[in-house]
Amino acid sequence: MTAPVFSPASGAPLAGREVVIVGGGSGIGLEVARRAVAGGARVTLGGRGADRLAAAAESLGERARWHVVDTTDQESLAAFFAGVDRVDHLFTPAASYRVGPMRELSDSDAESPFVSKFWGQYHTVKHAAAKLTPDASVVLMAGAASVRPPAAAPAYVACNAAIEGLGRGLAVELAPVRVNVVSPGTVDGNLWAGRPDRVREESFAQYGRDALLGRVGTEAEIADAVLFLFTSTFTTGSTLYPDGGYALR
Ligand SMILES: NC(=O)c1ccc[n+]([C@@H]2O[C@H](COP(=O)([O-])OP(=O)(O)OC[C@H]3O[C@@H](n4cnc5c(N)ncnc54)[C@H](OP(=O)(O)O)[C@@H]3O)[C@@H](O)[C@H]2O)c1
Repeated sequence: MTAPVFSPASGAPLAGREVVIVGGGSGIGLEVARRAVAGGARVTLGGRGADRLAAAAESLGERARWHVVDTTDQESLAAFFAGVDRVDHLFTPAASYRVGPMRELSDSDAESPFVSKFWGQYHTVKHAAAKLTPDASVVLMAGAASVRPPAAAPAYVACNAAIEGLGRGLAVELAPVRVNVVSPGTVDGNLWAGRPDRVREESFAQYGRDALLGRVGTEAEIADAVLFLFTSTFTTGSTLYPDGGYALR
């Protein structure tokens, strides 16, 4: 698939930049990788599954490489970033977790969004920090459930809100490195393809009723928002909501 070349009028060009996408072997991360490569960047993909990463990198061509990493394991993160010379742009969509009501989930399932999505991204940025160039940017992954819970999933809602706060906190600590957060609504893509048909169809239909634009998003639309945050040279500490107006209704 050919991705459009992102060429902002005033932002920083991507040509020659080193882009690291932890969670880049599929979904939104892989869409971001396609755009970055099309814009002339070199891309390093991280994730747990070697086969998935190898296939993704092959589809991207010679400016892509990959290493296995598990963001819940700090030794793994240290080894991953030891193999990276510099980081101009970092995107961290890697996460796997359980979502559900407080009264139904086990404690370990309830804690899984924080373990994987919050602390996974926190530790990823921590291990990347020494490799970030002065004009680097970081984009964290949250989710619009932070501001409008779609169902009973309080720990997941709180986790996404915490990631938005983490982005603001890291923007202060890491300046002049820019740190921003993308907080998408529901996306028709790899993550939802792995869920049961009935759950997916009902959730997408409900989202269509709830969002101003009447539909779920695409991975490409979220990737465009991430590329904007990579290249928007006066934007830091912000959260962008590509959610079709879900949070407003
Ligand atoms: N899709 C949506 O509707 C939506 C909406 C809002 C927010 N989000 C957020 O977007 C992120 C998922 O992105 P996606 O939708 O593009 O789904 P995805 O295709 O499942 O992407 C997640 C990637 O992260 C990797 N990963 C998972 N756990 C990991 C870990 N511990 N260490 C390293 N890599 C890990 C996975 O590969 P391996 O399994 O091989 O490691 C996979 O390639 C999540 O944070 C999710 O909350 C998604």
